[in-house]
Amino acid sequence: MRALVVDPDVPGALRLGTVAEPRPEPRQLVLDVRHISLNRGEVAFAGRRPAGTIHGYDAAGVVVRAAADGTGPTVGTRVAAFGAGAWAQRMAVDTTAVAEVPAQVDLADAAALPMAGITALRTLRSRSILGRRVLITGAAGGVGRYAVQLAALGGAHVIASVGSSARAEGLAELGAHEVVIGLEGIDRPVDLVLDNVGGPQLAAAWELLAPGGGVQTIGWASNEPAEFAPYSLFFVGPAKTMSTFGDVHEAGPDLATLLEFVAAGRLSPEVDRRDSWERVTEAAQTLLDRRVAGKVVLDVTAGTAA
Ligand SMILES: NC(=O)c1ccc[n+]([C@@H]2O[C@H](COP(=O)([O-])OP(=O)(O)OC[C@H]3O[C@@H](n4cnc5c(N)ncnc54)[C@H](OP(=O)(O)O)[C@@H]3O)[C@@H](O)[C@H]2O)c1
Repeated sequence: MRALVVDPDVPGALRLGTVAEPRPEPRQLVLDVRHISLNRGEVAFAGRRPAGTIHGYDAAGVVVRAAADGTGPTVGTRVAAFGAGAWAQRMAVDTTAVAEVPAQVDLADAAALPMAGITALRTLRSRSILGRRVLITGAAGGVGRYAVQLAALGGAHVIASVGSSARAEGLAELGAHEVVIGLEGIDRPVDLVLDNVGGPQLAAAWELLAPGGGVQTIGWASNEPAEFAPYSLFFVGPAKTMSTFGDVHEAGPDLATLLEFVAAGRLSPEVDRRDSWERVTEAAQTLLDRRVAGKVVLDVTAGTAA
């Protein structure tokens, strides 16, 4: 079958190649993958993985083999999936990491959700956000656009931070109450920060935290170091916290929640670029160049493998 595999010697370190069919564990189903989506971390760091690795985590398609242990959806079910080795014509994936796609949701839209949507959902659940001020950095990106919508759904006052005025487009419509460039103009403390950018902006966001507030450090798109002044992490009063995020285990139930929101028209999948996986190198570059407002979804096609 065809798959996008790591090749450190090609631009972007990804190319279409021929690989063996997956061999599922008893707890895994096999998915005929129709669409995949790209995430910044995957494309930025593809070259760090061993050559020949089938890359990617987000997929949507149709079950062609049910799990041997009897769990999960049956053959023919349309599902979204989160799991390693997703960028292939077929993937073996744990039944706990898939969710059925409602009839009214496009499979390509479903493929956009797993990594970015689950990250936004789970970091927002780190504390109660109803009536709280939530700052989302990198708000124009994949995680950011879902986080803005979900934070608004959860009743937060949403402050979306972007890198330039052009990148502010559409965020108010998605539910942002304020859209700021960098952290300019935030005049009151915030209760929760979802930080996708890292670097100096992370250190500055820490200073904006209200007593008892927390930062969820999701990503570090800036690639710049963050410097914290001596004692800037010391605070008298309810503790301020900074937490890592990387918990994407058993994604299925949360994926189902996201799909229900999409089906109900409460969450927009925000697919900004749709293309063939034949053009993965160009598509990945647009993401790295900050020219994608939301998600890149690629269609998986048969064809002559390289
Ligand atoms: N911890 C986890 O489990 C997890 C899960 C998913 C993603 N992540 C990480 O979270 C971050 C966001 O992911 P994503 O998929 O939403 O990425 P994305 O779609 O590329 O969005 C990244 C955003 O970061 C902003 N940014 C600010 N400074 C930047 C710089 N110097 N270079 C590039 N972008 C910059 C961009 O803002 P403008 O558009 O306004 O320019 C862009 O919208 C990434 O670092 C990713 O690796 C972590």
